Amino acid sequence: MPVDKVIVRAPATSANMGPGFDSLGFAMELRDELTFERTADRESQAITVDPDGNQVSLGVPTGSDNLAIRAFATAFREAGQEAPAVRVRIINRIPVARGLGSSAAAIVAGLMAADVFMGVQPDMQRLLNTAARIEGHPDNTAACILGGITSSSFVGARVLWARVPICRSLRAVVAVPDFPVSTRAARNVLPGNVPYSDAVFNVGRVALLVASLASGNYANLRYAFDDRLHQPYRSGLVPGMVNAMKAACDAGALGSYMSGAGPSILALIADDGPGELVAAAMKEAFALARVTAATMVLPTAESGALFEVA
Ligand code: HSE
Repeated sequence: MPVDKVIVRAPATSANMGPGFDSLGFAMELRDELTFERTADRESQAITVDPDGNQVSLGVPTGSDNLAIRAFATAFREAGQEAPAVRVRIINRIPVARGLGSSAAAIVAGLMAADVFMGVQPDMQRLLNTAARIEGHPDNTAACILGGITSSSFVGARVLWARVPICRSLRAVVAVPDFPVSTRAARNVLPGNVPYSDAVFNVGRVALLVASLASGNYANLRYAFDDRLHQPYRSGLVPGMVNAMKAACDAGALGSYMSGAGPSILALIADDGPGELVAAAMKEAFALARVTAATMVLPTAESGALFEVA
């Protein structure tokens, strides 16, 4: 029976986790919900609504250049089939252009919905490869597909990945400044080369980070999020960032880092950690730099994107 309507719930993700540039990703329980419905219209169209159902303009394209629609069309094209026109209703919860993986969620949802429309079970490895190719780096898309904390890396066109076992469950405190930063702009401030000593520094920190998460040695996290490959170059794009990261740790967070390409910052806390205190400290530090930031305390998303045939 042909499928006419598919709902995909795709989680927010936080890339890099400090030193794991373009590799580590962390999925959080905050999901965009994208409903793809076959339509008799000639062109596909997307509308974005807030969680109360009110239409909102988020500055994202609404036609065939919408990222979810593009990913949907890509999957059909690569399967040698013509994509049907669809109407996509996006219940938006993931702040857009804030370093929380809203693009990855759109791409993953489009690819997954397309497989379901074509009557094939979404194949994780193919999704991982295609989603990362569309996004340009695998960190957000891998975490969005797989859930939890993931490490991922291109080997040629293929994404190799592993889920990082987390010894004790963690929550994220996220501070979201009220201005966007485009990933492209944030990649443009990075240098072409880095000193050997900085590369060595990051190797040490990322190894410490992954081993500490797996073993439960969370006292290391205060230092394991340190990074010399991107955060120092990007801190100029986000006033108050460094102080907000420090304030989070002083208020009881295990560690803190710039989420993806920013401007959001994320602090990890233990499951029973002081979420509200950390959130207030981050907000206040941003306010001192005249930046208004919203805060959220989010559990880890144990599962990646989920679909349902409606
Ligand atoms: N790893 C990417 C970056 C994530 O930091 O540029 C951005 O989405």
